[in-house]
Amino acid sequence: MKQLEITEHTKPLLTENNFGKLLPKDLQKVSKTFFTPIRIAQIATQWLTEDGPKKIFDIGAGIGKFCISGAHYSDSFFYGIEYRESLVDIGNELIKHFEIKNVVLEKGDILDVNFKLYNAFYMYNPFFENLVAPKRLNNEVRLADNLYDTYKNYTEQQLDNAPISTRLVTYHGNNFEVPSSYEKVNQTDDGLLKLWIKF
Ligand SMILES: C[S@@+](CC[C@H](N)C(=O)[O-])C[C@H]1O[C@@H](n2cnc3c(N)ncnc32)[C@H](O)[C@@H]1O
Repeated sequence: MKQLEITEHTKPLLTENNFGKLLPKDLQKVSKTFFTPIRIAQIATQWLTEDGPKKIFDIGAGIGKFCISGAHYSDSFFYGIEYRESLVDIGNELIKHFEIKNVVLEKGDILDVNFKLYNAFYMYNPFFENLVAPKRLNNEVRLADNLYDTYKNYTEQQLDNAPISTRLVTYHGNNFEVPSSYEKVNQTDDGLLKLWIKF
């Protein structure tokens, strides 16, 4: 009798290397500057969820690297909003490739997002590009000095309205978007990744 061959489906392994090689060449070059390393996303996710699973919002999600990495390593649900359509398209291909179910990545502007829909937040210095012309990713969206304050003020106000005990993790940046109602409770040795809790 012919033997049945049973092949088990295994998900593609999520590593920096496997992730990086799927990106177009121009994004591979800037990936370190613009997208969260997987090991950092793991720490951030652990900090955001140590008191239970959350609906985590990535404020300016890029190609969804933080969301994909976090979702891969936790039961929480990740939402990313990104205003560059080209990044959203690539990110959604990556979500399919890595077979991640607990993540949604959509095109949109932070100014149109009601933060009340989420209960934990991640932010990798999203608005800085407006201030530093040579550090811009591309010309796909309008960037200008005065937009920095518009985005910063909106984000600060939305975070300030969140309930007590809300967690926020920031990576890089001067943290001007973090309201004074949040206290820094943890940080990595290099001081780049910080956990804040609303009190
Ligand atoms: C430094 S990248 C971080 C990407 C992602 N959070 C990560 O950690 O891998 C910041 C992203 O925020 C996006 N961004 C900046 N301002 C935005 C806005 N007002 N609305 C939506 N996305 C925005 C940028 O296009 C960029 O992709």
